[in-house]
Amino acid sequence: TWTTAAFVEEAIREVRAKVGDKRVLLALSGGVDSSTLAFLLHRAIGDQLTCMFIDQGFMRKGEPERLLKLFQEQFHIKVEYVNARDRFLAQLVGVTDPEEKRKRIGHEFIRVFEEESQRLGPFDYLAQGTLYPDVIESANTNIDPQTGERVAVKIKSHHNVGGLPENLRFKLVEPLRKLFKDEVRQVGRSLGLPEEIVRRHPFPGPGLAIRILGEVTPERLEILRDADLIVRQEINRAEMYHDFWQAFAVLLPIRTVGVMGDQRTYAYPVVLRFVTSEDGMTADWARVPYDLLERISNRIVNEVPGVNRVVYDITSKPPGTIEWE
Ligand code: XMP
Repeated sequence: TWTTAAFVEEAIREVRAKVGDKRVLLALSGGVDSSTLAFLLHRAIGDQLTCMFIDQGFMRKGEPERLLKLFQEQFHIKVEYVNARDRFLAQLVGVTDPEEKRKRIGHEFIRVFEEESQRLGPFDYLAQGTLYPDVIESANTNIDPQTGERVAVKIKSHHNVGGLPENLRFKLVEPLRKLFKDEVRQVGRSLGLPEEIVRRHPFPGPGLAIRILGEVTPERLEILRDADLIVRQEINRAEMYHDFWQAFAVLLPIRTVGVMGDQRTYAYPVVLRFVTSEDGMTADWARVPYDLLERISNRIVNEVPGVNRVVYDITSKPPGTIEWE
């Protein structure tokens, strides 16, 4: 029978046997898969593991800092922080098409990953948070015809773009490859990964960049970050975080008329998107208590300059997607 403890023990043995005294690189996103992987590998091979955390500038308010603090200070795991905010933003100047945005972000991710892995390397292995469903899709790998081993051709980074260049086709370490998502959560938990990561809502790789419709600018990022933080704070205060599959804010690139005091305002609307779902494939808009919506709406309009209206999305998936881009 499968137990978490037995799995962890066996995985650690396997990793040590495979890696020996070689160096392993891991692209850390802060999601449950890559975080669990980091914890497991750190236990297995300590400082032979280097985690690379690329900050694209599209994460939620305070998240990069929180992640670094957690890994470095609390768990003493080596994380190389790469501040690539300006580069990613520069890629998006004037870009409004959703697919084009994703493509550019994905490509920039590969470029940064390539440069940084050369700067920090050399590495012998790339650790990937491949899960059993990914193995079945065999989405990110090729089989080396000589050795029969799985080799990375793509990095599992939530960016479904391009392949890894030849020089980045590392050998793989994939200790989670037999697990389903729920088992990963259990393993993460058993390794001491905090609940806030284990049970975190899914967050798309391109992050807030696809929750700002139209062009992404520093001003809009700041507005959405502040609105998004209020959403999280109020949901947590209402102890409803786990009632939703996802709950977030979207910024629209249009302006509407409002009134504040005796002043006319002309500012952005924010959309609240709260859904329930089993797996993200289909979803239902969440029947949120009105008083929670009211608190969120009041706070956003009062506290976030640049926003004067809040609306609630009542579209299920299908026909709507969960994200707006
Ligand atoms: P949609 O919007 O297609 O989203 O209904 C389904 C689920 O996938 C997440 N999502 C992404 N996750 N990279 C990711 O890792 C992405 O580019 C991406 N786009 C959407 C979305 O948040 C939802 O959970």
